[in-house]
Amino acid sequence: MSPRASAASRRVPAAQIWAQAQAVLVGGVNSPVRAYQQVGSDPVLARRAAGAVLTSTEGRAYIDFIMGWGALLWGHQPPAITRALQAALPRLVLAGLTHEGEVTLASLIAQAMPGIEQVRFTVSGTEACMTAVRLARAVTGRTRVLSFTGGYHGHSDVLMAGHTAGIPAALASHRTLVAYNDVAALRRAVDQQGKELACIIVEPVAANTGVLPPAPGFLQALRELATRSGALLIFDEVVTGFRLAPGGAQQHFGVQADLTILGKIIGGGLPIGAVGGPRLLMQRLAPLGDVYHGGTFAGHPLSMVAGATALQWIQRHPPYAQLERRTTQLTHALAQAAQAAGVPIQINRVGSMFTVFFSDQPVRNAAEAQASRRDRFACWANALREQGVLIPPSPFEALFVSPAHTPRQLRRFAAAAAAAFRAVAQV
Ligand SMILES: Cc1ncc(COP(=O)(O)O)c(C=O)c1O
Repeated sequence: MSPRASAASRRVPAAQIWAQAQAVLVGGVNSPVRAYQQVGSDPVLARRAAGAVLTSTEGRAYIDFIMGWGALLWGHQPPAITRALQAALPRLVLAGLTHEGEVTLASLIAQAMPGIEQVRFTVSGTEACMTAVRLARAVTGRTRVLSFTGGYHGHSDVLMAGHTAGIPAALASHRTLVAYNDVAALRRAVDQQGKELACIIVEPVAANTGVLPPAPGFLQALRELATRSGALLIFDEVVTGFRLAPGGAQQHFGVQADLTILGKIIGGGLPIGAVGGPRLLMQRLAPLGDVYHGGTFAGHPLSMVAGATALQWIQRHPPYAQLERRTTQLTHALAQAAQAAGVPIQINRVGSMFTVFFSDQPVRNAAEAQASRRDRFACWANALREQGVLIPPSPFEALFVSPAHTPRQLRRFAAAAAAAFRAVAQV
């Protein structure tokens, strides 16, 4: 028996792994969207990945546009990051002490983002968002948090109040929710509650109701209203940081936040989050200040190494112009294919992130995203999967293009999408 055949015969079938997963993991997953409930199919079980290709447990190869939910700017296992991790592993896995890797990554971030003088690393975006709001409340001496319907800032109590069981109702009373891109509603809310506002927290490009680009003037209005009311403006750049530009959405749109939250790309594929801002604000965090944040794994040496390698690679080979060009070509091809199939869609794109909404109306906020045809999205996603293209199994997520996607792979996606739109036309 060849080594390959013996490995294959040892392989446990996907159905068996999924059955075991459901027995020992809640719903078979560690994050709900992975259960594929929103597209009504069996989940893809990941086995290995390289470049733009993810191989499932069954040995099926997919061109991947989930890309670690945006964390993998450079694709799967970019050789530079793999090499850096291999070199780091025998050196230091965990100390629980300050180490040089933290200084390197924090310096790279501060160089790239003008609004950041100091950084506090966390293990996840959730933790970073929670910490940023705590900091804003301490700095302003106020409690109320203004955020936007459909925005996602992780699953902390403070930012999920009103959206899940298990959080005291009182916490929701400290939040104000406004529709994304609705400047008039924003002005009304700030007129009424401005004096209570500790912060306005926003995804500068919403990515968790599908991609919603900010309407012209929206981010500028946020800046103006936050300044006027004395609230801190927090940009949650967990997705957009280093995806749209080295300086994130703040550089891309020319609007400066008071505090910035980062995650995903800055960890090079390993767990991470970060809060960054001017020294004056950041120094309210412990040990210098009275706002507590700490963590056994905060500033984890391996995340620091992977993240620093990803950001150094960006410095050396900025991918943004190429990503813009390729993603534009791809989305044009998708739009043409949908039109040819007679399927109305809206493609919302900013840089290398985009969402296809099955709607004949513009999608500018969460309500309009919710009104899109989910049955058609599910049909499209499943038809793509059958042809070897993996997209997020939810109509409310972003697809991410990476420099790892070759032009040929992008053309294959467009061809598969055309067939998938023809299937959608029957739904
Ligand atoms: C904009 C945004 N903020 C925060 C988070 C939470 O980050 P994490 O999943 O690392 O906790 C996410 C996760 O997708 C996100 O998209």
